[in-house]
Amino acid sequence: MAGSITAARHLRAGLSLAARASPRAQKLRLGRVPKRLSSTVSTASLEIPLDVFTPRHIGPRDDETTQMLKTVGYDSLEAFVRDTTPAGIRIAENSLTDAVIKPLTEAELDERIREIAKKNKVLRSFIGMGYWNAVVPKVILRNITENPAWYTSYTPYQPEISQGRLESLLNFQTMVTDLTALDVANASLLDEATAAGEAMIMCLAALPASNKKRTFLVDSGVFPQTIDVLRTRALGFGVNVVVADAQAAISDPAIADDLIGVLVQYPRQDGAIIDYSDLTEKVHALNAQVICATDLLALTLIKAPGEWGADIALGSSARFGVPAGYGGPHAAFFAVKDKLKRKMPGRLVGVSKDTMGHPAFRLALQTREQHIKREKATSNICTSQVLLANMAAMYAVYHGPKGLKAIAERVQQLTQALATALSAKGYTVTNSTYFDTLTVEVASAADVMAKALEKGINIRKVDDTHVGVTLDESARLHDITALASAFDGASIPQSITGGESIPASFLRTSPYLTHPTFNAYHSETALLRYIYYLQAKDLSLVHAMIPLGSCTMKLNPTSTMAPLTWPELGSLHPFVPEDQAKGYHEMIKELEEDLCTITGFKACSLQPNSGASGEYAGLMVIREYLLSINQGHRNICLIPVSAHGTNPASAIMAGMKVVSVKVLANGNLDLVDLREKAEKYKENLAAFMITYPSTYGVFEDTVTEACKIIHEAGAQVYLDGANLNAQVGITNPATCGGDVCHLNLHKTFAIPHGGGGPGVGPICVAEHLAPFLPGHSQVKTGGSKAMSAVSAAPWGSASILSISWAYIKMLGGSGLKTATSMALLNANYIAKRLEPYYYVKFKNGAGRVAHEVLIELAEFDKKGGLKVTDFAKRLQDYGFHPPTCSWPISTCMLIEPTESEDLQEIDKFCDAMIQIRKEADDIISGKQPKDNNLLKNAPHPISVISLSEEEWNRPYSRATAAYPLPYLKTRKFWPSVTRIDDAYGDLNLMCTCPSVEEMEAKF
Ligand SMILES: Cc1ncc(COP(=O)(O)O)c(C=O)c1O
Repeated sequence: MAGSITAARHLRAGLSLAARASPRAQKLRLGRVPKRLSSTVSTASLEIPLDVFTPRHIGPRDDETTQMLKTVGYDSLEAFVRDTTPAGIRIAENSLTDAVIKPLTEAELDERIREIAKKNKVLRSFIGMGYWNAVVPKVILRNITENPAWYTSYTPYQPEISQGRLESLLNFQTMVTDLTALDVANASLLDEATAAGEAMIMCLAALPASNKKRTFLVDSGVFPQTIDVLRTRALGFGVNVVVADAQAAISDPAIADDLIGVLVQYPRQDGAIIDYSDLTEKVHALNAQVICATDLLALTLIKAPGEWGADIALGSSARFGVPAGYGGPHAAFFAVKDKLKRKMPGRLVGVSKDTMGHPAFRLALQTREQHIKREKATSNICTSQVLLANMAAMYAVYHGPKGLKAIAERVQQLTQALATALSAKGYTVTNSTYFDTLTVEVASAADVMAKALEKGINIRKVDDTHVGVTLDESARLHDITALASAFDGASIPQSITGGESIPASFLRTSPYLTHPTFNAYHSETALLRYIYYLQAKDLSLVHAMIPLGSCTMKLNPTSTMAPLTWPELGSLHPFVPEDQAKGYHEMIKELEEDLCTITGFKACSLQPNSGASGEYAGLMVIREYLLSINQGHRNICLIPVSAHGTNPASAIMAGMKVVSVKVLANGNLDLVDLREKAEKYKENLAAFMITYPSTYGVFEDTVTEACKIIHEAGAQVYLDGANLNAQVGITNPATCGGDVCHLNLHKTFAIPHGGGGPGVGPICVAEHLAPFLPGHSQVKTGGSKAMSAVSAAPWGSASILSISWAYIKMLGGSGLKTATSMALLNANYIAKRLEPYYYVKFKNGAGRVAHEVLIELAEFDKKGGLKVTDFAKRLQDYGFHPPTCSWPISTCMLIEPTESEDLQEIDKFCDAMIQIRKEADDIISGKQPKDNNLLKNAPHPISVISLSEEEWNRPYSRATAAYPLPYLKTRKFWPSVTRIDDAYGDLNLMCTCPSVEEMEAKF
């Protein structure tokens, strides 16, 4: 294992193995500082940057790397990587070097992104169509959006250390149920269009299995981008989407007799507020559902969908303080009547109690979730939009019901003033009812739009003789004065009076947001303290490593995050003319190219909003390709049993049938079974979905063979790129044999998890699939034979693409490869340290794991009744977020440290795990009782540690419970509740903020 140069030298100042090839580049990147101030330096050397990014991103220092390699049994990183990865899939040394992607220092990056941002023109956009100029209260912007304690946390699957964001999400759900007047709301979906897709499939799921009906009626007043996504989603389920005037079309027997549901937009895209109660009665009489796509701000003034009978309400919560961001991210909301709650997709926060009977929040009805239901799922949603839901919830908490109503009234009055001005000038506003949107008949839409543009305002072209204007919270009198003047010099009147723009029968009379939370934090001081009160309950990357296997909780570098909230990136409407988004286009093109370089593929689509959404998009692209070569009958998808649950769920959504492939005892794919199944289904085989390295944490050396088997059977290989952090610069999905892969930019490419979203799941494809990449109804994107859209916005969550773009640019080719090597080393170091205490379930022939470690805990259950959960909860007492629990194997933990964690943190984690093993031994040996011990009683929050002497009925001390290792004395994170009772919460389902009385009565 002799290496020619030491690992320490390789890694100094972020130099990768690849950089060795270029000594000059190496010297320049080293940023060498003279040893003594008095020594002579060449002035040329003063140009050498000191702010090289790679060593800032990577946790271990040079000496630590050497030490870790030694522990694992190597003296060079190359030798280690050679033993860890199969030779057959390694890409050439020069495939990803600094010559291919040149690294930028943090200062250079800052300069570059400023140049790019300047190329975006920030005008006023009153285009509407579900995107607004949101006004983000600065207290929320700085303390949530820009605050790593909020944006670096994970989905709250460990509720005892997530009570803060769970409470905030419960506020979000309460806000949505109140404003829609429906019974249950989830904690967000990806965007309005995909939420509508989910609702459409729910209509189908709500019918008995024997149902043969398939028509879904979409009112012509629905946003076009929603209709586009509905058309895509309908394909996999054989649903027939009919777009028509719903009130008229419902009388057509061909539609009525086959109806599963109706979608209306309320207010409609043209601005009109329509009474849908008659339509609703007719639809219900046909045993179908009514879905209302709506606007939360409008609902403060107009009758709620639940009040006129809608079964489902959905929409975008973006105008509650989330910038448009050239399309996203923002949180879709989704609320249903009680009868539909078990069919509802997405995560749902509920109230339960902890072991002391204190109220506590946690995710409810988890068996509904798609990764559990697998091929029985009808949705694949996993990552959603938690950070953005929290922003929207805080916005409602800050403004309260009165504040929201005042904002809504202002918007409505400005709209009315504009309507009055235009009517006075002789224009026809075609919608007599409105909240914030006017459709205006004009002689030439192009002329009016050009005049508005001269005044720095974008409006919407409806057709050649109609334009649309949608106002929002940001609009001021001078905006509408300028806008009015574009219509032949119309002028805003001195006063406006009441009027019928919202019909009296449709004014909202019912109360909303009456809960104390929405009425207590209206000063900045109060809100700031509420935000920090919640934040203090949550463990995030600012506290400790979050070693969640398959989730890649790495550093979210500050310099990649900073530009996000600049107006040049944040405030662009997704449908602005292309010449106003030149900066975005440059960045998008570069990111697509870099992702293609990294994956080895030909083309990329950045449209999918999550990993699961990428899976779906990739499979749909395969479907379109097969259709194009007259192989449309192929519909079987082979998926290993070890796959993530979203894989089978996505295949079902793409209209495929799932057939499982076995896995061998050593964790590798069972090639014999794969061959047999490929042969058996040869005629109908569409695709094979595989995760690489596998979800068991090993690089199988049979991956290329497996792909060959599939290709020989005429099918396509989908590579789930969730584990790409183990591949970048060393191998790639194309070399492994894939045809298409998705990447999780929120894993490998440093977008923060945000407590459960946002995410971005781009797909990269081989040349033959490129023509089918998803397009968009409003903006040209995708391949030459583009399929319809998978997301509402053309480039999905465009604003956060800047994070991954910046991450790649700063690491450069060699830094990316170094990051991968270090992620592998950190995982192997953990495996080595834990091995004497825990059984490392799968390793390769050289004894190496990939970038994560699967440990088996079954023996502790057998001998001491100790479950995976008991270990996980005890880790919370040690200040760590537990690894992924009970997945992909129910008795295991999957540990993924990533490259960003340093040796000290990794050692602390290993010490904690080893100490817990000792505690488990005491339970197994009988030193501690099996039912009253450190693990079963974990976690131990302050409420337990502060029990009186009489109440403390435990056979161990408070110190052992709370401070089992010395480091905890100086740095302790406290879980805020004891273990939470999941079953109680599901039996007594409560998914909105409970009142004080309810809390007292219940607990
Ligand atoms: C292997 C794998 N595939 C797919 C996904 C789904 O990705 P997302 O949560 O972004 O939808 C995950 C999520 O953790 C995963 O681990």
